[in-house]
Amino acid sequence: VDDSVPPATLTNRTIEAVADYIKSGAADKIVVMTGAGISTSAGIPDFRSPETGLYANLARLNLPYAEAVFDISYFREKPEPFYTLAHELYPGKYRPTITHSFVKLLHDKGLLLKLFTQNIDCLEREAGVPDDKIIEAHGSFARQSCIECRAPYTEEEMKAHIEAKTIPRCHSCQGLVKPEIVFFGEQLPAEFFRARDLPAESNLAIVIGTSLTVQPFASLPGMVQDGTPRILLNKERVGGLGGRPDDVLVLGDCDDGVRRLCDALGWRDELEALWAET
Ligand code: APR
Repeated sequence: VDDSVPPATLTNRTIEAVADYIKSGAADKIVVMTGAGISTSAGIPDFRSPETGLYANLARLNLPYAEAVFDISYFREKPEPFYTLAHELYPGKYRPTITHSFVKLLHDKGLLLKLFTQNIDCLEREAGVPDDKIIEAHGSFARQSCIECRAPYTEEEMKAHIEAKTIPRCHSCQGLVKPEIVFFGEQLPAEFFRARDLPAESNLAIVIGTSLTVQPFASLPGMVQDGTPRILLNKERVGGLGGRPDDVLVLGDCDDGVRRLCDALGWRDELEALWAET
């Protein structure tokens, strides 16, 4: 027996085994890591799904390459493509999904240590997950400021420009104003780095709806201790998930996976009731 690998914690690698583990009370410090896949059923495209992903549908913006729309140096040259997209993505038009409500339910049950999200749609907040439990690793539309002098900018003015599809400029230095979304080439928020010890402190990791292609977020699942179960709810296998004895892969639609897990937990009615309130 290879004793360098701790014995498996789960009885087997199924949703039911994860539910039993949670019901045993051993999973009271759950870290959830999410990406755009959890908002697709709300009507917000993800980035990299072929055909439906955002990056496959930006031809109208004449970008040199798809991710340029979120690149800070490209934005300084040409802010128009981002502001065209912002008009479509701006929060307020979308309802949280059942998966967002599942995270809220984990919090209500006192089991959520932290949610790390890459999403900028603020749907976790709208689902009722409290601010101190959320790390928005790639920022969000919640605040905006000048990219040159950092002067804050009001939400009302930002909304007016996004509605009118005009480009907001700083009142102090005429620099470009941008929502505090983390663009390629920009630093992640300090709170992300302050929270990086939490995956190692968790006793269950749940990874949902992400391709795990963008660093440093993609390194988070690897920081979970050996012997701590990790469950992936995603259409496809991603990252190193599945490589450890306690990894559970639930490949398919994440809303279905969440419903199956809540069925096994006996939480299905609570989950649906919570979601019905959003
Ligand atoms: N159910 C389960 N999985 C889904 C669903 C769904 N309904 N919809 C999409 N997925 C999966 C896709 O198969 C893919 O593996 O979710 C993942 C989405 O991956 P991306 O589109 O790359 O989104 P994300 O991982 O959040 O991107 C990370 O890239 O462009 C940057 O900053 C941007 O935060 C974003 C980062």
